[in-house]
Amino acid sequence: MISLRDVHDSDLAFFWEHQSDPAAQHMAAVTRPYHHDREQFDAHWARIRALPGVLIRTVLADGEVVGSVSVYGPPEEREVTYWIDRAHWGRGIATAALSALLDLEPIRPVYAHAVSDNTGSIRVLQKCGFVITAHDKVFAESRAAEVPEVRLTLS
Ligand SMILES: CC(C)(COP(=O)(O)OP(=O)(O)OC[C@H]1O[C@@H](n2cnc3c(N)ncnc32)[C@H](O)[C@@H]1OP(=O)(O)O)[C@@H](O)C(=O)NCCC(=O)NCCS
Repeated sequence: MISLRDVHDSDLAFFWEHQSDPAAQHMAAVTRPYHHDREQFDAHWARIRALPGVLIRTVLADGEVVGSVSVYGPPEEREVTYWIDRAHWGRGIATAALSALLDLEPIRPVYAHAVSDNTGSIRVLQKCGFVITAHDKVFAESRAAEVPEVRLTLS
């Protein structure tokens, strides 16, 4: 059973574990310095949790903290992002969590970006109704290279 709830301070230790995982970082590709430094990670989360207009939820699977999902940005550029613990990949959790988040978010369109070889993330988005609307390139810090990416839109 997948559910969303508000983020608790105690969730941050779990998010750090999920997001500092090198295999997950390679998949997501576009990482930031805060993915490699716990202090910066905590500061980043304190900042985004305080921002108005950011909707962030902790993802629970049978009551266990397995990731986070959020939608942020100004009304004309709302963007979704999510991260699930690698130990729980392939169980439909991201799809269920994103779908639940989109039920809470009234604004459309909503956008997403994924590097072109992140087939899992692209599939999650497509299963939630997003379609690929643009192709671009982005610098992937975790791969130290520029890589192709897609932009997806949920109208
Ligand atoms: C991408 C991510 C969120 C997927 O989470 P998940 O809970 O495993 O996704 P789901 O189980 O809901 O999978 C949805 C679909 O994607 C497919 N999928 C998931 N991971 C995949 C992978 N590595 N390769 C190919 N397909 C994959 C599933 O098979 C499923 O498709 P199907 O129903 O047609 O079989 C997770 O791998 C993750 O957190 N990765 C690291 C962070 C990241 O990349 N975030 C997104 C940044 S754009």
